[in-house]
Amino acid sequence: MSDAQEMLLQAKEAFLTFSPGELSEVRAFFAPGRVNLIGEHTDYNGGYVLPAALTLGTWLLVRPRHDGVLRFGSSAFSAQVSVRADAMVFKEENGFANYPLGVLWALADLGVRIAGGDFFLIGNLPHSSGLSSSASVEMAMAVAATALAGEARERVDLIKAAQRAENGFMGVNSGIMDQFAVGMGEAGRALLLQCATLRYDSVPLHLSNSQFIIMNTCYPRGLADSKYNERFAECQTALTQLQAVFPTLTCLADVSREAWGAASRVLNGDVIMRRARHVIFENARTLAAGQLLKAGDAQAFGSLMNASHESLRDDYEVTGPALDAIVESAWSTPGCLGARMTGAGFGGCAVALVERDLIPDFVARVGELYRERTGLQAEFYNGDSGDGARDVTEEAIELWQS
Ligand code: GLA
Repeated sequence: MSDAQEMLLQAKEAFLTFSPGELSEVRAFFAPGRVNLIGEHTDYNGGYVLPAALTLGTWLLVRPRHDGVLRFGSSAFSAQVSVRADAMVFKEENGFANYPLGVLWALADLGVRIAGGDFFLIGNLPHSSGLSSSASVEMAMAVAATALAGEARERVDLIKAAQRAENGFMGVNSGIMDQFAVGMGEAGRALLLQCATLRYDSVPLHLSNSQFIIMNTCYPRGLADSKYNERFAECQTALTQLQAVFPTLTCLADVSREAWGAASRVLNGDVIMRRARHVIFENARTLAAGQLLKAGDAQAFGSLMNASHESLRDDYEVTGPALDAIVESAWSTPGCLGARMTGAGFGGCAVALVERDLIPDFVARVGELYRERTGLQAEFYNGDSGDGARDVTEEAIELWQS
């Protein structure tokens, strides 16, 4: 039995405890997490990113209701949350339920409204670890809500609604990368996305005899949201300073590497200068990495991953001791072609490109080195890429009836 089938069976048991009744009315949805291969903190600056959707993710089981009540349960949190569909506001005490609720709030503006439902979330994605567990919940909810409402919407509109939930409901100024990767992912491919235009290229993940391995520091991300918003604000400051001299500039990623010399003379203050330098050079690295992926050049791709981590550590300052320890452990281990933090940073996961034959030794050695340095036990997942958010009701029903 596949991992996905096992999750669906577990989901059924947990759901029937949460919402007893007929199984035939229950609908099931899945949305993956994502790993970003390169292009970090470039999305909200209009730049390039290169994420891939994972096979790990979130299953959302739903029983429709018609009484205007939205009930949320989750296998990860014991609390259940119940709110009225006509009173969707962010409340701290609603915890995890704020994510799906935020999506319903954003969808209501697009005319997608549901009359209630029992929603249960279960997944195999580590939480708050840089693999987009929140975008996974949001996109599962977006697909579920449109299906329940019987409304057809363009996928990109659901992606934008999920990002709006994050920005306008949760109060995090995140870019569009996570929702886009989770919504548009394709098995065996990464997406080279230009965030300013949403134009993208779906690139096969063929890097000769190497594979992406995700390394979880198991170090919690702490004040990630406030630090994230701080970086967002610093980039806005850098852009405003540049626009005073280059008025046609619309985003930081519009500044080319070649224009950096002139731009750096305009920027005021060491911190702002380093934040902008990261964005501009990371953007160039990401575009180059996309071309190297197309050419299947694993060695050169790995070098760009290393340079990306150094820039995130020194200029953007979003790595921290745990991420640096795991990435440096990977760098010093045979078979590693490149390694870097992935996602927002401040803890969570890193990703390494590793020669396939050496993966078992790599995992053992990095785990050992990391434990020696931090006292923490790392977890490793294979970075297999999967398809984007979807309705899985048919396969669930078939499995549950067998
Ligand atoms: C988080 C955000 C994304 C992106 C990354 C950093 O995952 O949700 O929008 O900014 O951090 O690249």
